[in-house]
Amino acid sequence: MAGVGGAARLGGCWGAQWGAGGAQEGAGGLNGVLGWLDEVLRGSMECWGAQGGAEWAQRDAGGPQQGAGGAQWVAGGLRGVLGAWGGWWVGDGGAQTGAEGAHRGAGGPSGVLGGSGVLVRVLGSAGGPGVSWWGDLGGAQWDWQLTRDHTITSPGSFSPPGARRWLSSRSPAPRVCVVGSGPAGFYTAQHLLKHHDLVQVDIYEKLPVPFGLVRFGVAPDHPEVKNVTKTFGQTARSERCKYYGNITVGRDVTVAELRQAYHAVVLSYGAEDNRTLGIPGENLPGVYSARAFVGWYNGLPENRDLKPDLSCETALILGHGNVALDIARILLSPLDLLRKTDITECSLAALACSKVKRVWLAGRRGPLQVAFTIKELREMINLPGTQPVLNPADFTGLENAVKDIPRPRKRLTELMIKTALQKPGEMAAQAAAPRQWGLKFQRSPQEVLPTADGMRARGVRMALTRLEGSGESAKAIPTGDVEELECGLVLSSIGYRSLPLDPAVPFDSQRGIIPNSMGRVEGAPGLYCSGWVKRGPTGVIITTMNDSFDTAQSVLEDLRGGVLDVSVSKEGFGAVGSILSSRGVRPVSFSDWEKIDAAEVARGKAAGKPREKIVDPQEMLQLIGH
Ligand SMILES: Cc1cc2nc3c(=O)[nH]c(=O)nc-3n(C[C@H](O)[C@H](O)[C@H](O)COP(=O)(O)OP(=O)(O)OC[C@H]3O[C@@H](n4cnc5c(N)ncnc54)[C@H](O)[C@@H]3O)c2cc1C
Ligand SMILES: NC(=O)c1ccc[n+]([C@@H]2O[C@H](COP(=O)([O-])OP(=O)(O)OC[C@H]3O[C@@H](n4cnc5c(N)ncnc54)[C@H](OP(=O)(O)O)[C@@H]3O)[C@@H](O)[C@H]2O)c1
Repeated sequence: MAGVGGAARLGGCWGAQWGAGGAQEGAGGLNGVLGWLDEVLRGSMECWGAQGGAEWAQRDAGGPQQGAGGAQWVAGGLRGVLGAWGGWWVGDGGAQTGAEGAHRGAGGPSGVLGGSGVLVRVLGSAGGPGVSWWGDLGGAQWDWQLTRDHTITSPGSFSPPGARRWLSSRSPAPRVCVVGSGPAGFYTAQHLLKHHDLVQVDIYEKLPVPFGLVRFGVAPDHPEVKNVTKTFGQTARSERCKYYGNITVGRDVTVAELRQAYHAVVLSYGAEDNRTLGIPGENLPGVYSARAFVGWYNGLPENRDLKPDLSCETALILGHGNVALDIARILLSPLDLLRKTDITECSLAALACSKVKRVWLAGRRGPLQVAFTIKELREMINLPGTQPVLNPADFTGLENAVKDIPRPRKRLTELMIKTALQKPGEMAAQAAAPRQWGLKFQRSPQEVLPTADGMRARGVRMALTRLEGSGESAKAIPTGDVEELECGLVLSSIGYRSLPLDPAVPFDSQRGIIPNSMGRVEGAPGLYCSGWVKRGPTGVIITTMNDSFDTAQSVLEDLRGGVLDVSVSKEGFGAVGSILSSRGVRPVSFSDWEKIDAAEVARGKAAGKPREKIVDPQEMLQLIGH
């Protein structure tokens, strides 16, 4: 081990600080170890240099890389592997490592880039984010951003035009709190942890169990979608992340208290209510919101006692979204298919006694405006024991209209047309099917009609509509004609809705979102939002993931740009925990959840299911000894 030595350029562009023992000079001087623990490189860049006949180059095509103290430069070779994250460095000729350029300043934290003649070239579009890298050592953080190409000319210093360098010694770790443990909460936490080496993230969740709509929304017969919980589990088990379940923010602890305890607070608490129709009869027995019905079959504690009345033959679902299709599928699926899922025991028992054999899905607009997607429609069309009933007249002239529309909607419409035009003989098995479902278009609910005794719903009066405008933005205008559809079960599936959490948080009641710009809550520095409460109750998990990454990126920018003052140490859960215990609130940890999880899986195994969900929070808490 030669420590840092030799004549070199190599470390120049990479390590601002060479760790003791980091550089090794092998025999012949060609073998070096680059590296720095907890150093992150991000952006697209190239670096190269030459000295004493040794030339080298490095290219990074973007994507964060983290050195684990072990980037190896292969003797005389062309490439080395950067640390644990496996980034590639491409060397051009024999690389020599040494210390001429980089050194560690007295006291440790000041890093110096070095190696004269090293060119750091920023790839990508002008005005883009450029190259940034950052790291920490002994509690000191440093951070760089370079937006223009730069040649380092004098070892021992780095202040190129266009470069920003931020160095602080002994800054405390930033503490961020995330409210809600659905996809938005977990993806926000994941992004923060991945792109900041010090940040500590605490996730607060209202229920004892995590994962939001992945557990309580995603249909039981879609187990593959729930695989995301594996990634969420990895995040929760990270050393710098903690999960605190069984805490309702806004009730057990206020947002103001959280802001006091954390450098930043991210609100990711989803949409816990539903839109209402605002029509007479909406509250009659026999009418349920899709949200409550989904919560019931998925074991959401607040809906476990719903006991929907399934004693009628015809159900009407209002709305043409994917939730509507989920519900139709659950109502009509053969029990043998559902039995193998994690649907709750009591809903399975109720569905076993269900008399529902016909499900209509009514939308206020036309086939070109449905909100569901092709995979879910195809699943419905292929559902064993059911027959689709689509009226060919609804699709007249659409074959031509679809030619110019975007491909996903084109394919979706073509599938509806094909199904509507199918001759009975072509679907012999389905023609004899005992159950039916169908789509009704251009029907807007006007009133839920009561039975003669006024005790429950017997049908829905719908206004027939015409479309004004075209494409996705077409509006449904009542024609003046109405139609009554007899049904004993009405499910209103017209969307979820977020609620205000705390008077201290701005809320746009019209749009049902927290007003924000790139996740930064308007007028409340240090407060952020992600997921459905940020953009409204639409979008699949991937959409929510991207949106949460954007919010996390805003938090990172504000941490690095000094918008968030991290010079002041914050206590995080240290402070919140005391508040909670003074109010008699006992949090549930992630390892507590893992015990509940194991118990559910064990119960499910006995019944041949992936899990049997515990639906009573008290039972969950007893199980973990609370
Ligand atoms: C019925 C249904 C089925 C779906 N199926 C699919 C699918 O198959 N595939 C797909 O990709 N997408 C699906 N989605 C969409 C997907 O579920 C959403 O994109 C995603 O869950 C939104 O994430 P979120 O974190 O914003 O909200 P949520 O998942 O709702 O998470 C919010 C979390 O915050 C918690 N919370 C609420 N209030 C508080 C409080 N005061 N304090 C602390 N915590 C609180 C909640 O308990 C919850 O855990 C479905 C949606 C629904 C409604
Ligand atoms: N398998 C999956 O991937 C899956 C499963 C479930 C949910 N999700 C996602 O979760 C999100 C939420 O789904 P969602 O079905 O609740 O919402 P959605 O996709 O927004 O659909 C809502 C439906 O309700 C209708 N509607 C709204 N207000 C109405 C009113 N006042 N009167 C009559 N109809 C009205 C809408 O019609 P208009 O278009 O005319 O407004 C639309 O057809 C969606 O992004 C969905 O894709 C995905």
